[in-house]
Formats: sequence, structure tokens, C-alpha cells
Amino acid sequence: MNKGSCRAGEALIRFSKVDLSFSDRKILEAIDLEIMRGEIVCLVGPSGCGKTTALRIATGLLAPTGGGVAFDGAPILGPRRDVAIVFQDYGKALLPWRTAAGNVSLALEAVGTPRAERAARIDALLAKVGLPHHADKYPSQMSGGMQQRLQIARCLAQEPAALMMDEPFGALDAMTRQELQDEMLQIVRTTGATVLFVTHDLEEAIYVGDRVIGLLPHPGRIGIELKIDLPRPRDQIATREDPEFLRLRRELYEFIKSAER
Ligand SMILES: Nc1ncnc2c1ncn2[C@@H]1O[C@H](COP(=O)(O)OP(=O)(O)O)[C@@H](O)[C@H]1O
Ligand SMILES: [Mg+2]
Repeated sequence: MNKGSCRAGEALIRFSKVDLSFSDRKILEAIDLEIMRGEIVCLVGPSGCGKTTALRIATGLLAPTGGGVAFDGAPILGPRRDVAIVFQDYGKALLPWRTAAGNVSLALEAVGTPRAERAARIDALLAKVGLPHHADKYPSQMSGGMQQRLQIARCLAQEPAALMMDEPFGALDAMTRQELQDEMLQIVRTTGATVLFVTHDLEEAIYVGDRVIGLLPHPGRIGIELKIDLPRPRDQIATREDPEFLRLRRELYEFIKSAER
């Protein structure tokens, strides 16, 4: 059973008629979207259709020009400690002059973890993202995949109820990307976090998601919603060969092709 259906009916994040304009240009129009607790919702759509803008609104970094977003039933008025953002550009998200442990420590300091508890928490977080032996390395000594793992560890230090991920694996090679998809799913399963996951990669969206939302451009609006009922845990070979995966992939590709026209 999908986690999303365990506590069905409880939206953690709710977009209600969200409009967003930059000066007089309408970027998003009438976005209505509920993300249930523990659900993984993926957002796909042509470049420039407003995916990042929608994610920034969901995190409170950007206020909509119409409608609103509620988190746990209350309006989002600004960034929240329990909502973590994973960016594609891990290079910019990490502090180059701090080691892996130092980068995680900073996140723990920010959420007020007492000094005495930090070392053990750092070890646990680095182990959770598969970096148990890299505490003393600097970001420049780590591969792209390792740096992205470290960014995720930093986000997990916040013990977030929601993880907002903006093309988090887009800069990684195909093998590393698949490894991180599986690790992310494993982490989300153990923490119960709710996820909004933006990606260009339609197969990635179907592979990780409980639901995939496709946006149409100019202005950005919801054009398709696919419920992904593939069994979990997902498997890089079996899931991608599942006839249902292939059916969903075809439907999503056809949607994107027509959206780009
Ligand atoms: N701060 C901003 N000011 C003006 N226009 C912006 C700003 N941020 C994004 N845009 C425009 O909004 C549109 C959607 O951008 P974005 O949400 O980044 O798209 P996506 O992530 O889907 O590629 C683009 O046309 C972009 O140029
Ligand atoms: Mg974007």
C-alpha cells in the first residue's frame, strides 16, 4: 500500500487557487493541489512552466499574488524550520570551508541541537545518507553524488515534516541518480516525510512518486494528474519493466509533447 493512502484525507500542504505574476506576466494560474501526509508528489512540465516557482511558494520563500498555500491547516507566511529544501546545485548549498561533519553541524546549530548531542547526531545523519566514513572530507574532495548526499543530510538535521526537492539529482550521472533515488525513497520511508519533488525526468517522476502532476506552460497550470500505484519498495529493474510503468510513461510523454507544442 502507498504511504499516501495510510492517512488519506489529511493534506499537509494545500495550494488553493494559487496565482503568481511577476510584474504583469502571469506565471502560475489557479493551482489547486493537495499533498497528503507522507505522500511523494512529483511536479513535471516543460522548462520555464513554473515548477521552481511553485516549489518556492510551497516553502514560503515566495508569496503568491492570488490564492494561498496552507501547511498543516495554517497559511504559510514564510520559510519554516520543518520544511527543508534540497536544491539541484549542491555546490552552492554547501559551505566549502567546512568538512562534511562541519556542514551538518551548522544545520544542527541552526535548529538548536545542544552541543553535547551534536557529534552523535552528525554520525547518525552521515550514516543515514551513506557517508559514514567521510566526516572529515571537504565538499571539494567529494563526488557530485556524495555532495548531494551531504546536502540531504543537512536537510534531515532539521527533522523536516516536508522535503522540497528541486531537480535534486539532475546534475548527476545516470547510475548515481538511480542510487540516490533509492536512498531518498528509503529515507522518506523511515522518516515519514512528505515530499514535493520537481524533476525534468519523466521516468524519475513515475519511479519515485505516489502521484505525478504535469504542468502546462504560459501560464503554468495543472494539465494532468497521474496516480502511481506501482508497488513499493520500488526496484530499478522490476519497477521500470512493469507494464503499468510503461503505460504511465507513455501517457506522461504524450502529455509533455502536447504541452510543448
Ligand atoms: N524572480 C523572477 N522574476 C521574474 N520572472 C521570473 C522570476 N523567477 C522566475 N521567473 C520566470 O517565471 C517562469 C517560470 O520559471 P520557473 O519557475 O523557474 O520555471 P521551471 O522551474 O519550470 O523551469 C520563467 O519564465 C521565468 O523566467
Ligand atoms: Mg526550475
